Amino acid sequence: MPTGAPIRAMDDAGIAEAAALIRAGELVAFATETVYGLGADATNASAVARIYAAKGRPTFNPLISHVPDMAGVRAIAEPDERANMLAERFWPGPLTLVLPKRADSGIAGLTTAGLSSIAVRIPARDATRAFLRACGVPIAAPSANRSNSVSTTLAVHVQASLPGPQNGGPAMILDGGPCEVGLESAVVDLTGKRATLLRPGGVSREDLEAVLGQITLAGSNDSTPRSPGMMSRHYAPAAPLRMNVLDPRPDEVFLGFGTVSKPGALNLSTTGNLIEAAANLFEMLNTLDTPRTAGIAVAPVPSEGLGHAINDRLRRAAHS
Ligand code: TXA
Ligand code: MG
Repeated sequence: MPTGAPIRAMDDAGIAEAAALIRAGELVAFATETVYGLGADATNASAVARIYAAKGRPTFNPLISHVPDMAGVRAIAEPDERANMLAERFWPGPLTLVLPKRADSGIAGLTTAGLSSIAVRIPARDATRAFLRACGVPIAAPSANRSNSVSTTLAVHVQASLPGPQNGGPAMILDGGPCEVGLESAVVDLTGKRATLLRPGGVSREDLEAVLGQITLAGSNDSTPRSPGMMSRHYAPAAPLRMNVLDPRPDEVFLGFGTVSKPGALNLSTTGNLIEAAANLFEMLNTLDTPRTAGIAVAPVPSEGLGHAINDRLRRAAHS
């Protein structure tokens, strides 16, 4: 019977050990005031790919980057006056802001699912921010539960929900006790002229509107996404894309996988490793998608493990 991840107290010693694991590219689950997060170094694409594998998520959604302070926010995002006002009032706390991503953020393409925006949050608890500071890198973290299960607010629930370290799960769970908010952060998109509430959460719409004035609810008109999980604004290359190609046309650039490759072409993973392929996906598509690109042909990727999420994303790109 497989065992879950070890649980450690979220004290100085536990935090130091967890931060060392993060810097080594491992996953660590940790307490926040909202729910437990399943964290990885947001600048390390392979580590972020392992989040998806551990959760068994069939799709790549953009993740929140957690930072300890405003300096951390400004290192990866471009907050405007509205963001500064919300930050002043609600950070640290259960609010996530979607902001333009800095060009030099160092954030992995997989963390933002290829988008040019980035979701950032400064969590409320001192211990959570001490952990983030000890990591020294932004921490990408969705809720620490298996895909299609409920979010977790206790370390033992994280342990029961996710696989153990031998099976792709977190190397450690930092136990900070029960989460006091108990539901996810509110997500506000500030990349457009009008602020949009993408996900109701730990800060109420009324409290947000007291600072910003009126906020558009996602789904209230056709130009806003219906729900964060069904965002219409997905990254897709501008060039047309074809999947499951063994022989590209002469005008197409090729993206190989495993032994299906071409001399000089990029390859998602020459060894056929799906975690490596997920880590490379957005960066390689971006590299290939230049104004001179007539088309992108992608080799078959097996529909198993992270291959489901990779194929989901390629399918959306092929039909956009
Ligand atoms: O309370 C929370 O927010 C927890 C704790 C661990 O911090 N985290 C969490 O993460 O709930 P996750 O990945 O389950 O939710 C992230 C939400 C998703 O709804 C996602 O679509 C949205 O944020 N999001 C992230 N980046 C985005 C972006 N660039 N544009 C639009 N939405 C984004
Ligand atoms: Mg979740």
